[in-house]
Amino acid sequence: MIIGSGVQFYRSLESTNTCASQCLKSTELQEGTVICTDFQTAGKGHQSNRWESEDGKNLLFSIILYPSSVSPDEQFFISMAMSLGIYDFLHNLVPDVKIKWPNDIYVKNDKIAGMLIENSVMGETIENCIAGIGININQNKFSRDIPNPVSLKMITGKESDTRTCLREALNYLDIRYKQLLYGNRGLIRDEYVSLLYRAGEWHAYRAEGNVFKGKIKGISETGSLKIEREDTSVSEFSFKEVDYIHQPLSNR
Ligand code: BTN
Repeated sequence: MIIGSGVQFYRSLESTNTCASQCLKSTELQEGTVICTDFQTAGKGHQSNRWESEDGKNLLFSIILYPSSVSPDEQFFISMAMSLGIYDFLHNLVPDVKIKWPNDIYVKNDKIAGMLIENSVMGETIENCIAGIGININQNKFSRDIPNPVSLKMITGKESDTRTCLREALNYLDIRYKQLLYGNRGLIRDEYVSLLYRAGEWHAYRAEGNVFKGKIKGISETGSLKIEREDTSVSEFSFKEVDYIHQPLSNR
């Protein structure tokens, strides 16, 4: 086992990603070390968003990786492998799990898990990777300003043991990480694309202020999202260049 070979629990932290990054400055942590907490005082989401999680209710952890065989150009494979690991964990428990590009995990139209992957790149090598993952397990209510959150309990009606969930999630992540290191990367990519939220369906998107109808076709070599337009042209978008619009196409 690589991921989960060592798990450090903290009662409360600013952020597991911040803690992991500070630890890496002073110590050589074994690959696969997991830093986990019950509560974050400054949980980080993408692009300076915060990550909300009620004390003791959910999974909040960061995994330290040294993916030396993955070049910086291929770093999206880490994101795909981690997304598939969380997909595997949740798919075993609830139906209708999808991966919303680039690495949100959705159940139907709601977000159950998010990931903040921070790679430290030096020249042609990824020196280390901090894969920070938040999975909503037992939280019943979220702040109003969070767009579409959901937890496992809100779906199943049942409370889950967070420690058991962590162990299971780490097992699935470990399998996917080994697939990335030693297995067929083409399969990782094919599976990731096949599980993309909204893939192959016409929906509304917004890019550069314009709303358009598009169909997700897949991803580019570097992980950009490919969307086909009604005129059959295909556009590629980097993260934050495109928004998913959550309204029926006929209402526009
Ligand atoms: C997102 O969807 O915006 C990414 C959310 C990532 C949240 C997790 S919770 C554990 C780890 N520590 C953090 O501060 N953030 C990540």
